[in-house]
Amino acid sequence: RERRAAEALHVLVIGGGIAGLTAALHAHEAGHRVDVVVKDALGDGATALAQGGIAGVYGVDADGVADSPAAHAADTLAAGAGLSDAAVVDVLVGEAPARIAELVARGVPFDRDPQGRLLRGLEAAHSAARIAHAGGDATGAAISAALVRAVRDAGIAVREHTMLVDLIVEDAAVRGARLLAAGRIVEVSADAVILATGGAGRLFRHTTAPAVCTGDGIAAALRAGAAVADLEFMQFHPTILAAPGPAFLISEAVRGEGATLIDDDGTRFAFDAHPDGELAPRDVVTRAVVRRAREQGHPVRLDATALGAERLARRFPTIDRVTRERGFDWAREPIPVTPAAHYLMGGVVTDAEGRSTLPGLYAVGETARTGVHGANRLASNSLLEGAVFGARAAAALGTVAPGPRVAADVPERTPLAGDADRAATADPFSRTALQDLMWDLVGPLRSVEGLEEARATVRSWRPSEDLTRTAVEDRNLLQVARAMIDAALARPVSVGAHHLLASSRPVSIADPAPALIGV
Ligand code: SIN
Repeated sequence: RERRAAEALHVLVIGGGIAGLTAALHAHEAGHRVDVVVKDALGDGATALAQGGIAGVYGVDADGVADSPAAHAADTLAAGAGLSDAAVVDVLVGEAPARIAELVARGVPFDRDPQGRLLRGLEAAHSAARIAHAGGDATGAAISAALVRAVRDAGIAVREHTMLVDLIVEDAAVRGARLLAAGRIVEVSADAVILATGGAGRLFRHTTAPAVCTGDGIAAALRAGAAVADLEFMQFHPTILAAPGPAFLISEAVRGEGATLIDDDGTRFAFDAHPDGELAPRDVVTRAVVRRAREQGHPVRLDATALGAERLARRFPTIDRVTRERGFDWAREPIPVTPAAHYLMGGVVTDAEGRSTLPGLYAVGETARTGVHGANRLASNSLLEGAVFGARAAAALGTVAPGPRVAADVPERTPLAGDADRAATADPFSRTALQDLMWDLVGPLRSVEGLEEARATVRSWRPSEDLTRTAVEDRNLLQVARAMIDAALARPVSVGAHHLLASSRPVSIADPAPALIGV
């Protein structure tokens, strides 16, 4: 049975997105002493960039169509390609209304109809429009601003420009963290550490992830001996603007509103891959986009012209502004799009309370592998996961998991190559070379031979031992890359986002738009 600690705990929350700040606020409100640690300024990170919204508004919609948590659970399980944990999915959808209500109470200005009801967007692989959004396509920015304000108002201690270096492990439990701030290492002891450092999108040449997403929490958990799983499941979003400049997401909600994907002939090719066409699960649409782009030698296009200029500007003001700044008028002509790394389904193994396999260590949000996403995350379930499991982890502080700490179905992972693996002749590490390698060989289409080539290469690289932010990030990226490649090689069949081509030789998955996207 669970045991609740009698006294207030000192809790270190590493990361400042929706998962971390929800955990911090709930822990603070429960009477614990909380320190939030963020690598840049509070509010920087992937949450603030989220466009589509947060799934989980149920009931009868404005058109009289009924929706329910059960239908949302069924969609989540279907998108996850059979590898989601149904019991944890039930927790996710069951607690969605309460967490969305909490965000409303914290001041998130979700978009509403004239009667004051939440407007609901539709996204791919959802059987109903159930996605709450704010500012049209600026949901993450609105959520981030409200949570940052709440944390500041609550007087929670925040250490900005401070990076996790390693977890402190004593007597097989996590007792705090070593942090890097202003070039110095600081050791902070704590009763519990909640990892909320996001994913590892910066492993790839093209990604929607901001610069902070270098897998810091996952790498530190690996070094500390916590179980990590499902790293082979990296989600590639199909529609990033294929144009010079930083990767810019064109939300799936645009397809939910009726935009189509077309090739040079104007054919809606996504229907060749799936009966739901552009609204098929994300991994399916991504592969269809990559394949057609390779066949025609340049990016496919997203056609949103039928929505009209006024609706596009009102429903998607951010995308409307940025595409125009980049020289496109999407109300008049289709825009080129191409995939980019977007979300890591795997991560630090947790139970439904955010507890990792190490006592004292919790993980929430993209850093965690709760089991809800399986092999492919359903759109707009990520903000929801952060809110639901951030709150649950805070509620579980000071409790001990009943039974074994590792779920029976989590496969054993090959131990990571450590110092002994770093041959004296190893090649120096380059982040750019890693990102190129991962994009070419560990991207949306993989082969066993390509993965083996990638494994040999990452094992030959020797990162700098410096204690600078860049060097620590590089070591984390390389560690997560090694674990991801090992995980991909340990799964010899295609499922969800992990897709293997039959090939007898290394397959380099050429960039469908080599000269077009910068990072
Ligand atoms: C999007 O707006 O397309 C991204 C939503 C998500 O990743 O869940």
